[in-house]
Amino acid sequence: MTHTVAFTNIGQLVTNNEQLGEGMLGVIENAGLVAVDGAVTWVGDSKDVASHSDVAAVDMHGRVVIPGFVDSHSHIMFAGDRSQEFAARMAGIPYSAGGIKTTVNATRAASDDELRQNAARLIAEMRESGTTTVEIKSGYGLDVANETRSLRIAREFTQDTTFLGAHVVPAEFSNAPDDYVDLVCEAMLDECVPYSTWIDVFCDTGAFTTEHTRRILTAGMARGLKPRIHLNQLTQGDGIAMAVELDCASADHLTYLSDDDIATLASSNTVAGLVPGAEFSTRAPHYPRARDLIDAGVSVALSPDCNPGSSYTTNMPFCIALAVREMHMTVDEAVFAATHGGAQALRRTDVGHLRIGAQADFVVLDAPHYIHLAYRPGVPLVHSTWQHARMTFTKGDRA
Ligand code: NIG
Ligand code: FE
Repeated sequence: MTHTVAFTNIGQLVTNNEQLGEGMLGVIENAGLVAVDGAVTWVGDSKDVASHSDVAAVDMHGRVVIPGFVDSHSHIMFAGDRSQEFAARMAGIPYSAGGIKTTVNATRAASDDELRQNAARLIAEMRESGTTTVEIKSGYGLDVANETRSLRIAREFTQDTTFLGAHVVPAEFSNAPDDYVDLVCEAMLDECVPYSTWIDVFCDTGAFTTEHTRRILTAGMARGLKPRIHLNQLTQGDGIAMAVELDCASADHLTYLSDDDIATLASSNTVAGLVPGAEFSTRAPHYPRARDLIDAGVSVALSPDCNPGSSYTTNMPFCIALAVREMHMTVDEAVFAATHGGAQALRRTDVGHLRIGAQADFVVLDAPHYIHLAYRPGVPLVHSTWQHARMTFTKGDRA
């Protein structure tokens, strides 16, 4: 039996398609939308909904509908808590990659069910703030058994799973980092490939060198994984050219970027994955150069980078507000980066927009304008979240 949903009286429908509506977000005012069996079959003027569906339409009372947020960067396979580390940081202790090891110890000690329930709890939070697609990384196991089970459990939630065995060198290999790289490229990769779509490396001071990163990404690519990278979060490194040469789908963080790096990214298909929650929560000296990236023609994705160390938030609207306030992105650019940009960073064309044929993943906002996402920081504006045309979260109607 077909499952059809139809909406009328959408105050603003963001389609992310310039052909369908106004501006880069393709906004249709006073719109309607029809979805059948999980896919968008029609968008247009509210008054025409009845001629495109045979079910009773839901009246949206002027609310805004946008594509579901696409979170292309999360580290939610973990156990434990690092709130003390956060408090110490706010009192002046700088962030370093070394904190990851605290989470590795807690993750190794956790049961499968604890890891599963923690990830499920964070995904529920994501839905409540409008995220409908999520990528999930391993990277807190750092041995063959724990990386493999992290990815096996992550696959229960998404196809966009990422092998991040090269997050940092674990304590037991601290005197032999080359041996750990061998392990990642051989036995660990062997076990993790069946549960992974992507391969990622943290290429930075305190993590992996550019040479190690190239070796690990190349080994993963030879096994059919697609590359992405954590880069230039803590220092200005030399990895951008390599990331572009290997055709990484995204280079993420980019807190430090030279003019040459921006020009190199602009001539590539690599998306700049910006994660301003990390600059916020680590009190980084500055945010990434989003304005310069966009002006140079680089595609940008936004993500909360949910992890227990540098950015313990799942909330995309918070990142939109930071992108606008701190990175000088326009509201339109930030909403586009949180939806279409995330999809591009995952090389997906089925999500991140609401053209005909798109997966019917969308968010209904209790707001008269999508600008409210940045204008009302911290306010839970999501009225309901829909995935494959089914409501997966609602806070219900206010009296
Ligand atoms: O994206 N940069 C590397 N990994 C995480 C931080 C992990 C942690 O501190 O636990 C990040 O910021
Ligand atoms: Fe990250």
